[in-house]
Amino acid sequence: MQVTVRTRRAAEAPAELLALPLAQLEGSAGRLPARIAALDRATGGRIASVVAAGDFRGKRGESVLLHAPDGVAAKRLLLVGLGEESAIGAAGLREAAGAAAKAAAARRARSLVLLAPAVRRVRTPETAQALAEGLVLASYRFDRYRRRDENAAAGPESATLLFEAKAARAARAAATTGVVLAESQNLARDLSNEPPNTLPPAGLAREAERVAKEVGLRCRVLEVPELRRRKMGAILAVGGGSSRPPRLIVLEHNAPSRTRKGGRKAGARRRPTVCLVGKGVTFDTGGISLKPTASMVKMKHDMSGAAAVIGAVRAAALLRIPLHVVGIVGAAENMPSATAYRPDDIVRTASGRTVEVTNTDAEGRMVLADALHHAIQEFGPAAVVDVATLTGACSVALGHWAAAVLGNRESLVDAIREAGETTGERFWPLPLWDAHREHMRSEVADVRQTGGRYGGTITAAAFLWHFVGETPWAHLDIASTADTERKSALQPCVGATGFGVRTLVEFLRGWRSARIV
Ligand code: BES
Ligand code: MN
Ligand code: ZN
Repeated sequence: MQVTVRTRRAAEAPAELLALPLAQLEGSAGRLPARIAALDRATGGRIASVVAAGDFRGKRGESVLLHAPDGVAAKRLLLVGLGEESAIGAAGLREAAGAAAKAAAARRARSLVLLAPAVRRVRTPETAQALAEGLVLASYRFDRYRRRDENAAAGPESATLLFEAKAARAARAAATTGVVLAESQNLARDLSNEPPNTLPPAGLAREAERVAKEVGLRCRVLEVPELRRRKMGAILAVGGGSSRPPRLIVLEHNAPSRTRKGGRKAGARRRPTVCLVGKGVTFDTGGISLKPTASMVKMKHDMSGAAAVIGAVRAAALLRIPLHVVGIVGAAENMPSATAYRPDDIVRTASGRTVEVTNTDAEGRMVLADALHHAIQEFGPAAVVDVATLTGACSVALGHWAAAVLGNRESLVDAIREAGETTGERFWPLPLWDAHREHMRSEVADVRQTGGRYGGTITAAAFLWHFVGETPWAHLDIASTADTERKSALQPCVGATGFGVRTLVEFLRGWRSARIV
């Protein structure tokens, strides 16, 4: 979607729908903000009369449509409630823009204009970014496998945000940022929604290559012979049960240019390296430890961590984030077959550590063990963050309200949590102690794959910890938030949410101030 910032007067904006977000009005005679009051006068008091009648109070989530008011170029006016002024933040603005886009789509309006509200305590760039994000997120559809007449309209192809002249410059840059972030999140949604028959590991790698080409990333895809050469026994064990072989995908933003001997080019700027590692299990049957049918549906979303990483690296490139950002995806399909790995196997990972297999359904941590080792060995990052739909226990602990964050550095866990507060994606910390790490030792191998019935999200993280050692590391378990059955203005389709993309990018944007040591 094209989002443009303009400074014209709202009454003159020729739009099929003109949206006016409004904070809660105190009392029935609540005074309208200056720009809305001017518009109201142009209509001969239509807005004031709706308010006076008590039909619109500006409550969060409330909206009223006025048709063809005189004195206004727009065909329709939509009043959108923002709730109490003191409580309005980016989340409320995102939702209001989402409601406007939804209303425009429902009426098949082709042009949408949104009058940016002046909210105390919310700066112009934050407002513009949130509004742009809301418009783009609300316009997401996954309809490539449906007949056209069954498709709900995706809404207008372009939208205009009206700002005051002195704010326009800042608003323009921030709106562009918002569009990039939301489009990257929508890309993650698309990848995660794609069914497993059309998106095997090689397909996911092709998609990564397409994105790399689009935004100018370096992309390397390691196929099975290379995975063998690198002794990546864990990802090979998981992928071995499928006729569709595994892949390790590496995307690089700001890849340092190297001399032919592999050294750094003279004068090349040294930027900190941050690795993002995603679980890309394109379908999770559980393998030999087969899932029951009801638990297996929706397991196409088991590559949502990978989708979030690909989306985040895409955004990092478009926003020119001044870091060397490496996205690494371990892609495999977990199937039961004569060549599948099995409980009691002992698997040697790329790190040399051996794993006692206890449940082939704990495949995500296997794939991540090799991917994390590769990240650290190959790139020596200042920090590594992995993202994975790793445990059902995550939903048991947190419900669908939050994802879990764990790690070996408090500063890193805090930075993720705070980035999530900004984006509206909740991450909640769980403990990770030496006792947990010890708990994962095996009697017959270096580590055991699973840790028993209790604290499943923690024991999964404790397993991963064995493969990251002392490198600053955070683990995001998004099993609880990666997909949903509930629609809302910003989540117009059931299925993939694209959760994590915006928080990862917010974390990268705040890297310098986070002081990870
Ligand atoms: N992909 C699942 C986790 C999952 C479950 C994600 C439900 C989304 C919804 C993961 O591979 C898995 O199967 N985990 C097991 C771990 C167990 C075998 C230790 C689980 O959660 O049951
Ligand atoms: Mn599994
Ligand atoms: Zn899984």
